[in-house]
Amino acid sequence: MKRIPLPTVPNGWYKALYSDEIGVGEVKPLSILGRAYAAYRGEDGAVRITDAYCPHLGAHLGHGGKVEGDTVVCPFHGWRWDGTTGQCVAIPYAKKIPPRAEIATFPTREQNGYVMLWHHAEARPPSFEVAEIPETSDPRYRQYKRMRWELDSHVQEIYENIVDVAHFRALHQMDIQKVVWGPVGGPDSPTVRLHVDLVRDNTEQAGVGGRTEIESFLYGPGLQVTRLSGKMKGVSVNSLTPLGDEKVEVGHTYYVERSDPATEREVEAYWDYYMNDHYLDFQVWNHKRFLEHPLLASGDGDVAAFRRWFRQFYGAGASTEGASR
Ligand code: FES
Ligand SMILES: [Fe+2]
Repeated sequence: MKRIPLPTVPNGWYKALYSDEIGVGEVKPLSILGRAYAAYRGEDGAVRITDAYCPHLGAHLGHGGKVEGDTVVCPFHGWRWDGTTGQCVAIPYAKKIPPRAEIATFPTREQNGYVMLWHHAEARPPSFEVAEIPETSDPRYRQYKRMRWELDSHVQEIYENIVDVAHFRALHQMDIQKVVWGPVGGPDSPTVRLHVDLVRDNTEQAGVGGRTEIESFLYGPGLQVTRLSGKMKGVSVNSLTPLGDEKVEVGHTYYVERSDPATEREVEAYWDYYMNDHYLDFQVWNHKRFLEHPLLASGDGDVAAFRRWFRQFYGAGASTEGASR
């Protein structure tokens, strides 16, 4: 039996690259969502993502491909592909382009410092848009740190953490005063908001009397923002990208309000505090099993309601054993 019997890639937007990882004229291989892609940034500045393999004789466009205008040229025999329409637009030695010369392309958006890629199990177009996180482009904030980890887990398992009230107490030693969560604007909304009031004895981060407010938004299965109040205003933009079966990349881009250098040590202490919390979760996620029928007690969060919300990302055609509760 699988440890996490959930479809590997829920439908949604996922971070493919950080924006600054791909410049104009660059081609990059991607190995995410259990398959291979090629990404390139055309001379118009837009990133396109195609299937990795050239339909001619199978070369990987991400290894040696070249950008020409807004198209990509295969390194093997020079066929030129339009990464927006998928059409082959030139073959250097042939007079006629075969009628079915087409490569698969995927919707992309660039937002919040990420290049996002749309995945749908039945290749449907995007059913929602990538949310804009204002702090990522607000001059009053600066990017403090960027981290990435590979976990032996699944995006649903990681997200489920937010409704798991009891773990805040036991694992993170937080005294939870209040938790409110729910979809924003209707039960089928791809966005969930979570608000937690807690008290915790820590000088690194908490405000007066150890008080902290956490507000978090989940935007579909691949993007989350968490805002912490307290001594410092920190904004954590988190990407979750399935890499393959029971493998997920977690990316954090952490923004803090611009402050004078005297407080830099405080920011560092705050960061350490924040990271320690994550490492506690990582240890659990890396080894836990997904239980379709968990044994719940009063005082647990509403895991069933959370799973009902998440189920929308599996679509009708997916095998959803384990996702149905
Ligand atoms: S394999 Fe790409 S042009 Fe031949
Ligand atoms: Fe946690």
